[in-house]
Amino acid sequence: MSSLTPIDPTRCQPFDAGQTDVITVRNLCKSFNTRAVLDDVSFSIPRGKFVVLLGPSGGGKSTLFRCLTRLIEPDSGHISINNTTITGLDAGALNEFRRQVGFIFQQFNLVKRLSALDNVLAARLGYTSTLRALLRRFSKSDRQLALACLDSVGLLEQAYQKAQTLSGGQQQRVAIARAFAQQGELILADEPISSLDPESSENVLQILQRAARESGFSVLCSLHQVDLAVRYADQIVALKHGRIFFDGTSDDFNANVREELYNAVKV
Ligand SMILES: Nc1ncnc2c1ncn2[C@@H]1O[C@H](COP(=O)(O)OP(=O)(O)OP(=O)(O)O)[C@@H](O)[C@H]1O
Ligand SMILES: [Mg+2]
Repeated sequence: MSSLTPIDPTRCQPFDAGQTDVITVRNLCKSFNTRAVLDDVSFSIPRGKFVVLLGPSGGGKSTLFRCLTRLIEPDSGHISINNTTITGLDAGALNEFRRQVGFIFQQFNLVKRLSALDNVLAARLGYTSTLRALLRRFSKSDRQLALACLDSVGLLEQAYQKAQTLSGGQQQRVAIARAFAQQGELILADEPISSLDPESSENVLQILQRAARESGFSVLCSLHQVDLAVRYADQIVALKHGRIFFDGTSDDFNANVREELYNAVKV
């Protein structure tokens, strides 16, 4: 199984590995009903790092994720992911780009009545002919890849178990395996541990950290658990009232910064 391991840096093919930053955001603005939710946001995410996005509720984290993938349209600003200007992609190019990005959500977003394996294979749908996809006839290599991805998150034994019978922590690991199976390089995780117990939370963060450290994935992950962020992140970016409040290392994210970030939210 080891030769098929999905977290092999050599398989990060689609993107330009020579480039230092995987995401560059410049002067990003987004308003809803004239209220600025993202206000002149600029930051960069280096390749192969585990970056945690922090900030009080309503600060704009999920809106930022949606702008990064153009699930919502920014009002202005520039987003570049692997040297491609996301803000300028047409529908076809946008689909191709999204196929290479692994998304992990708070509520796992699995098809509950399908097995763990079938949920991971869903990541290969974009690479499978329509007829094969309709018949769920995946290639042998796709099945091997999906099994290897489940193995890498410790769920090989549960491959044929229905998603709805797995624990929350296991379901989130299936979602991570699905992101690995996309064989892109970028993983975006919006509050992936919010509904997990402490042990499962640590487990998920360890897997994501390892994906960055050992396998060349670039991970942007929002969290509300500051202690865990400080322990696991290579870099912390914090949003408050839609503006960048902090961008630096965990060491620099000291008690003062922490207190100011979360203290009295202005009305
Ligand atoms: N489609 C929308 N229409 C109107 N307002 C929106 C929309 N989406 C988000 N907002 C508002 O934008 C602000 C930022 O929301 P967002 O979900 O990005 O915050 P967040 O940092 O992810 O918060 P949380 O930590 O609670 O998940 C909130 O005030 C929210 O109500
Ligand atoms: Mg959110």
